[in-house]
Order: sequence, then structure tokens, then C-alpha cells
Amino acid sequence: MKKYCVIGHPISHSRSPQLHMAGFQEFQIEAEFTAIDIKPSNLSNWIKTTFCSEYSGAAITIPHKKNIAEFVDIQSESAQKIGAINTLFWKNNKLWGTNTDCLGALRALETINPNIENKKILILGAGGASRAIVFALQIAKAHITIWNRTVIKAQELAEDFDSEYVRELSEIDSDEYDIIINTTSVGLNEWKSPFPESLWRQQHIAFDIVYKPLETKFLADAFAKGAQTITGDKMLVWQALEQFKIWHNINLEPEIMERAFFVY
Ligand code: ATR
Repeated sequence: MKKYCVIGHPISHSRSPQLHMAGFQEFQIEAEFTAIDIKPSNLSNWIKTTFCSEYSGAAITIPHKKNIAEFVDIQSESAQKIGAINTLFWKNNKLWGTNTDCLGALRALETINPNIENKKILILGAGGASRAIVFALQIAKAHITIWNRTVIKAQELAEDFDSEYVRELSEIDSDEYDIIINTTSVGLNEWKSPFPESLWRQQHIAFDIVYKPLETKFLADAFAKGAQTITGDKMLVWQALEQFKIWHNINLEPEIMERAFFVY
């Protein structure tokens, strides 16, 4: 039986096993998918002794997304540019590291707006998730503006991906934007939004990557103004669908993982 896993520290919160096992069930794939808690100090040993001899693939989450790079033979272009790996797979006996968060975010957006080219997109946050999303949207030829609490990080991210940044949200003309994305942790287990209520417009699409809770203040404010909303489960599901394609060469129906997300 083939073995897959998600590794992180902590890991008990991970939804990856339930998403992937739903796919195994649908296609009657004989495989297991487990969540394994690996401390940073044990990463090297676990990869060399356990992963390399037993596993066909792994999803990588916090805090290993950067440090895992030194153990792979080849990094995909997305992993290199984003500077983070969330997926390990084998190809021609080489261990590859890639990043599916970027395509996951793009696919999630495309469910509401299939044509991202030339869209004006405001991204709140300049951390790891933001970097993956900016990478994908730049390839899709969107016009990106980044805002971050710590301005220098917005500036650096904008420079790396040939985008714009703003120091204050009061600088933006909200009417100009098509899509607003929250990649900050504001709203995670709290009723707060990083985006002022008064800046929402009916024409906006609001996308929050926070999925605890699914209905965040960011999305509730947008919805109240008549904007369309995309909840945080979508990015998680679409990046897992990309992993499924890489590992099993199967385009799984999104609904299968969507349903699994809600079954606890
Ligand atoms: P991830 O990998 O999920 O992106 P991260 O790299 O730690 O996590 O990034 C967290 C993001 O949330 C950052 O943009 C951070 O802003 P700073 O760079 O200023 O720290 C943002 N963030 C976290 N708490 C915030 C808060 N209270 N207000 C605004 N932004 C916040």
C-alpha cells in the first residue's frame, strides 16, 4: 500500500488527511494518508530514514515549508520563486519539492472570476501565503497592489514580483479594485477585519484565506455591501486538488474534497 502524509508541528489541526482520503475512496486507490508531527530538530533524520524509504509523497506545512528545501533534489520554479515547498513527490528517482498554494489560490479565484488578466487586485499581508498568491497572480497577469502592517515587507514583496505597494489603506481608491484578498491572520478565531468596512464596494470580490471561522468579519463586511465572497476552505481544497493531480495523475472533482472538508 502506498503511503502519503502531511508533516508539520503542530499537526493535529490539518485537514489534508480527510481531503486526500476522500479522493482515495472515490477512485479506490489503495493508499494511506496520515498526519505526522515532526519537530524541526527531527526533520533531517525523518526525511532521510523514514520518508525516503517508505513514502510516495508528502504535504509540508508550518514550520517546515522553507527548511525542507535542503532535502530535495530538485525544486520547481514555483517553489524557488516563492521560497517555500508544500509538496514532495518522486519523479525519475529524484525527490522534487513544489508549491501548490499558488495555483490553489488562483483556481479558487477562478471559480468566481475565470479571467484574472488585467484585474486590479489588492492583497492584504506580505507573509508566506501572500508570496504564493502574488506569484500566481503575477503569472496570470493581474495588476497587484500589496498592503502590509509592516511596510518594508510589502515593499520587498512588491519589488520581487514587479508589483505596487501602499503604506496605508487610506491611500487606495477602492473603486479601482476588482478583487481584495486577505492573507493576514487577522480574523483567525476572532471577529476582526484588516480592511475598513467603508472601503467595500459592490463590484468587489472578497477572498479570505482564513478558514477558522469560515465566515470572517472581512467576508461579512464585503457581503453586506453586496460583494461576492470566497471562503478560506476554497484555497485549501484547490491546493490539495493540485497535489492529488501531481501524486496520482487524476483531476479530482472539487466537490469531493469540498464535501470532505465539512465532514469532521
Ligand atoms: P502565512 O504563512 O500564513 O502568510 P506569516 O508569514 O506569519 O503567515 O504572515 C502573517 C501575515 O499576517 C503578515 O503579513 C503579518 O503582518 P506583519 O508582516 O506586519 O507581521 C500579518 N498580520 C498578523 N497579525 C496582524 C495584525 N494584527 N494586523 C495586521 N496584519 C497582521
